[in-house]
Amino acid sequence: MKKTDLRGKSFSTRAVHAGERVPPADFTPVATPIHPTVGFLYESIDDLDAIFGSRREGYVYQRYANPTVAAFESAMADLEGGEAAFAYASGMAGIHAALLAAGVRAGTSVVAALDVYGATYTLVKNLLTQLGAQARFVDIADLDAVEAALAEMQPAAMIAETISNPLLKVADVPALAALAHRYGAQLLIDNTFASPYLFNPLAFGADYVIHSATKYIGGHGDVLAGVVVTSAENGRKLFELNKLIGSLLGPFEAWLALRGLKTLPLRMHQQSANAARVAGWLEQNPKIGKANYPGLPAHPQHALAQKLMGERGYGGMLSFEIAGADQAQVFRFMESLQLCLPATTLGDIYTLVLHPATSSHRSLSEAERGKIGIRPGLVRLSAGIEAADDIIADLAQALNKSG
Ligand SMILES: Cc1ncc(COP(=O)(O)O)c(C=O)c1O
Repeated sequence: MKKTDLRGKSFSTRAVHAGERVPPADFTPVATPIHPTVGFLYESIDDLDAIFGSRREGYVYQRYANPTVAAFESAMADLEGGEAAFAYASGMAGIHAALLAAGVRAGTSVVAALDVYGATYTLVKNLLTQLGAQARFVDIADLDAVEAALAEMQPAAMIAETISNPLLKVADVPALAALAHRYGAQLLIDNTFASPYLFNPLAFGADYVIHSATKYIGGHGDVLAGVVVTSAENGRKLFELNKLIGSLLGPFEAWLALRGLKTLPLRMHQQSANAARVAGWLEQNPKIGKANYPGLPAHPQHALAQKLMGERGYGGMLSFEIAGADQAQVFRFMESLQLCLPATTLGDIYTLVLHPATSSHRSLSEAERGKIGIRPGLVRLSAGIEAADDIIADLAQALNKSG
């Protein structure tokens, strides 16, 4: 595209156009630049028309696609082993879009794992049912119960988390994919806790993989984002939906997510090692009623976790119950922490602690939480990349202070 000729133009016109649209340089930036532009220009309007009509690839309008966002999407498609990826303004937007792309509508149904992230639970239980879909929740570890639910509901989609939030149950993705496909359902796997470093659900039969990129992908607690990775065919459905929903991630956020992604293996390696140390320590601590971590041999699905992802570790997430603690005691414990941060997120370089009953799973009733097993004394911990000894020392002093 030619640079606008500003010779003889007025000050106002030059203020708007001067310095813009310089011809492409003969260098390539090492890192992907941020492209904060809504529109894109082509020499020939035929090119614009061809892109609009999906006859060639390119950019026309930011709600459709943006080069910085596309760079992040292509990195995620590569790491998850998918053909297409789309980035969203949040993990929840990605989950919603994937459910729609999988065909969830009025008159269809969804089978969901009982202990999914609270907002996912509420999206399926409330919003989707208000729109005319039906929902059924099952213990994803009980494959007979899963099959019974699939046979009865004949759902358009089944959704589960690789490692569940906050009870750290492990989904047998290959078995779930076989069951889902037998009953004509698409399998959606939220891979947020495992990250593509530990596990690739598409390789085991999942149809859509979703991440809250806010967590391990971004990794630094400074960007809210989501991403869905899938096949080329499903990708075309998602793209058509995305244009209407308008939930594309912004280029600044995509740049942060792409930058974070580069150190995912290093962070996840350290976080898995730290979580394993902390879980082992908690398991031996008389103040702790129960420690949930897939890397512990005592975890009911340790063998499955080992089979699916044990090669590189078991992730940075764990949860534990402070023996006999009520909500007030958990709050005192969280206030007594000096290093670990009681912030409502996970997957960051910082060690983070959260009380599921009053935050991630607050939107559920007490009875619903009870059914899932989220009791008032349950604490979720996301191991950061600090020294494990310092994390353990902080937990020990806070447990002592909170009685
Ligand atoms: C497992 C899981 N999935 C999805 C989400 C939603 O992600 P976001 O907050 O980016 O919308 C979260 C948020 O905590 C989560 O833990």
